[in-house]
Amino acid sequence: MINIKKVKYYPELRKVAELANEIWHECFTEIISLGQIDYMIEKFQSLDSMTNQIENQNYMYIAVYDDDDLCGYMAVKPENDERFFLSKFYLRNDKRGKGTASEMMRYVFDMAEKAGKKSVYLTVNKHNSHAISVYKKFGYEIIDSVVTDIGSGYVMDDYIFSYTL
Ligand SMILES: CC(C)(COP(=O)(O)OP(=O)(O)OC[C@H]1O[C@@H](n2cnc3c(N)ncnc32)[C@H](O)[C@@H]1OP(=O)(O)O)[C@@H](O)C(=O)NCCC(=O)NCCS
Repeated sequence: MINIKKVKYYPELRKVAELANEIWHECFTEIISLGQIDYMIEKFQSLDSMTNQIENQNYMYIAVYDDDDLCGYMAVKPENDERFFLSKFYLRNDKRGKGTASEMMRYVFDMAEKAGKKSVYLTVNKHNSHAISVYKKFGYEIIDSVVTDIGSGYVMDDYIFSYTL
């Protein structure tokens, strides 16, 4: 049984950081270098960086459980305008293809609607073809593309997708 809920502080956030480390090393190896994966985990998904996002940048982390098994997570951020940012959307590989992603996305749309937002947007690596297909299936449309310099010689080469609520 899938249970989606907001992440409480330690130790749950620590477990999300461990899961992020596992999933990122599995899913991004064919898209970006190992050096970039490690760099991005440290910058965006370490316990310290996630704590900072929650405390100072208005992010919320959301955990996905299959019974007691923490198997996925999301991060969201309401913007100051009419947009809701879906920053992270991850499911461990053994749990994919079972309908859980659509429950996760429904949860995000509900949150955004409750926050009075008009759209949800996200960024996705241009070579992440499965995630791109999934977002299109859920009704997202490409509105832009962006190359973001994240330091140490690395860039994120992304599409921006938007869904109108
Ligand atoms: C992105 C992610 C959470 C999606 O979860 P998933 O379990 O793989 O998604 P599903 O297979 O359930 O697909 C979701 C929907 O898209 C549809 N879909 C999947 N692949 C498709 C394709 N190639 N063409 C059309 N529709 C497709 C599915 O049928 C499903 O629709 P349904 O729920 O109505 O049946 C998961 O793949 C993941 O964690 N990937 C690695 C991390 C990642 O890349 N995250 C995104 C970073 S931006």
